[in-house]
Amino acid sequence: MKVEELRIIIYTYEDASDLPGDAELLVKKAKEATKNAWAPYSHFHVGAALELENGEIVTGNNQENVAFPSGLCAERVALFYAGSQYPGLSVKRIAIAAFSEGEFIAEPVFPCGDCRHVLLEHENRVKKPIEVIMYGEKLIKLVKSASDLLPLPFDYTLLSGSGK
Ligand code: THU
Repeated sequence: MKVEELRIIIYTYEDASDLPGDAELLVKKAKEATKNAWAPYSHFHVGAALELENGEIVTGNNQENVAFPSGLCAERVALFYAGSQYPGLSVKRIAIAAFSEGEFIAEPVFPCGDCRHVLLEHENRVKKPIEVIMYGEKLIKLVKSASDLLPLPFDYTLLSGSGK
């Protein structure tokens, strides 16, 4: 028997103005993006803002549907939009924020498992890490790569049989 330990590094900030590389603007865009969320069922309005390698910012928000699984999270709306409109450009970083019950939530918004997989696929495709900034009014958490959020992922190498 062997025991393995996985470690991730999480950077925590109390104020968006302390974030590295002017990510404060990205957080602002993610917060603004919550306004266009369609969330009549959860009332949880999520916004995501992506910075592309050319400096452009693309935003998305959650789009719900009465047939629940048909909706989509803010992160994937933004990532798929970027993939369809800017196919050659890599995503450098993403900020995520959520507005609920009249205020931005205090704790950082962590992406769901499906969004983590989509973030990771992008990283693997462009071979560059995506910095993930998870905003909360009280605390902001940052990881330097989406892979930090998804240890032991279902990996494409398994599909090709090289995982045997
Ligand atoms: N949601 C997101 O858009 N992103 C997240 O990171 C977490 C959850 C959405 C999905 C659903 O519309 C609502 O928030 C409640 O789960």
